[in-house]
Parts: sequence; C-alpha cells; structure tokens
Amino acid sequence: MIREHDVVLRGPRVLLRPFTEADLSTALGWYQDEETLRLSEANDLDARTVDDIRPIYEYLSQHGHLFIIEADGQPIGEICLERMNLAWVNERYPGERIYRLPIVIGDRRYWGRGYGTEAVELLLIYGFEQLGADRFYIPGVWGFNQRSLRLWRRLGFREVDIRPIVLDRRGRIDETDEIDFTLTRAEWEARRSRRGMTYERT
Ligand SMILES: CC(C)(COP(=O)(O)OP(=O)(O)OC[C@H]1O[C@@H](n2cnc3c(N)ncnc32)[C@H](O)[C@@H]1OP(=O)(O)O)[C@@H](O)C(=O)NCCC(=O)NCCS
Repeated sequence: MIREHDVVLRGPRVLLRPFTEADLSTALGWYQDEETLRLSEANDLDARTVDDIRPIYEYLSQHGHLFIIEADGQPIGEICLERMNLAWVNERYPGERIYRLPIVIGDRRYWGRGYGTEAVELLLIYGFEQLGADRFYIPGVWGFNQRSLRLWRRLGFREVDIRPIVLDRRGRIDETDEIDFTLTRAEWEARRSRRGMTYERT
C-alpha cells in the first residue's frame, strides 16, 4: 500500500504534493521510456509494468516522503525525501541524520528547464528546517547524466566519491563512473536562497 503523508511544498513554478495510489498509472507512463530508464536505473532498460513499479513506490512511501512534482497543474515527475538506507553511508558519517533524494522527471518536455533544481531546493529547505537533517547524500549518479551532475553541483553539492563502472544492460554497454554527492547543513546554510518557497500541511 502507498502510505500518504500530508506535506505540500510550493516554489515559484513547482508544487510538490503527496504521491497517492491514483498516481501509479501516471508514473507507469514515465517508466516506458528507454532514455529515462538509462539515466535513472541500474538494471535492464525494458519498459516497466505496474507490478515492477508498485513495490518500489510502496517502499519509498513507507520509508520517506514521496511526492509528485507538479508544474502547470500537471504531474511531471516524482521525488522522495528518504532517510539514508545504505549502511556504508551511515557508517561513514556516524551520528548524522542523512537523507537521499531519488528524483525522476518523467515528462521529458520538462527536462532542462529548471524544474528538477527547484524540486530539490524545496526538499533541502524542508529536510534541513523541518526534519533536522545534518546531511544529504546522493549515491551513484551516472557520469553520462549531465543534467543530474549539473543539478547537484549547482545546488552546492560536492563530489565525494567516484567509482568506475561498466553498465551492461542486456548488451547495452555504458562505460562510465558512478559519482556520489553530498551537502552538509553548514554548506547549505552558507548559500541557501528561499526564492519564495513555502511549506504547509494539507
Ligand atoms: C536529472 C533531472 C532530475 C534534472 O532535472 P531538470 O529539471 O531536467 O534539470 P534542470 O533544468 O533543473 O537543470 C539542471 C542542470 O542541467 C543543465 N542542463 C539542462 N539541459 C542539459 C543538457 N541537455 N545537457 C547538459 N546539461 C543540461 C542545466 O543548465 C542545469 O545546469 P546549470 O544550473 O548549471 O545551468 C531530470 O532531467 C530527470 O529526471 N532526468 C531523468 C531521470 C534522472 O536522470 N534522474 C536522476 C538520477 S540521479
């Protein structure tokens, strides 16, 4: 079951609202596109079925705040504010409250127009101000994912680890790096901008 929270975040052009059961069919459409899968997934590039995606969304909704990203009144993607679940990351920063931020803008018409940046900025504000985050950690961005790399760098994230990797997705080979980014509370406080962003509860 998808667990719904009650947080709504607004930026100048983006609305983040709770992901609901009814959003599954829209989200399924985003996972039919090979390029989106190549950028965001580690395993095969086959179009996903609802049975593939449902357990992932259930997990995210039960372990974090799962949001639909809306622009122009329409769902364009999803983002999750998720407590870090990788033991090696938590062990690297003992005692810290760490979050990760899986994001997919599934509607390709909205790529490269600043919506991803704004969605992440909203959750940095919410995570640091409301949830007491000490750090965000983004594991494993593919080295060929230029929009993603630029998004994290632009928002002040630092590269902390780079590992070469060969992705073999049923014969589709990508020789690349996986790059980890991090941003601490102190780094965020030094440069944050609110740009008219607000949060509320439904
Ligand atoms: C990655 C993603 C979330 C970025 O969101 P977005 O709204 O497309 O990105 P933005 O418009 O906010 O731009 C981010 C940066 O990429 C740059 N950019 C935009 N289009 C680009 C392109 N074609 N090539 C290189 N850089 C590009 C922007 O200029 C911006 O950098 P800047 O601030 O230094 O100018 C989104 O593209 C997406 O969901 N992609 C598919 C799934 C995915 O990759 N998820 C992330 C996995 S880690």
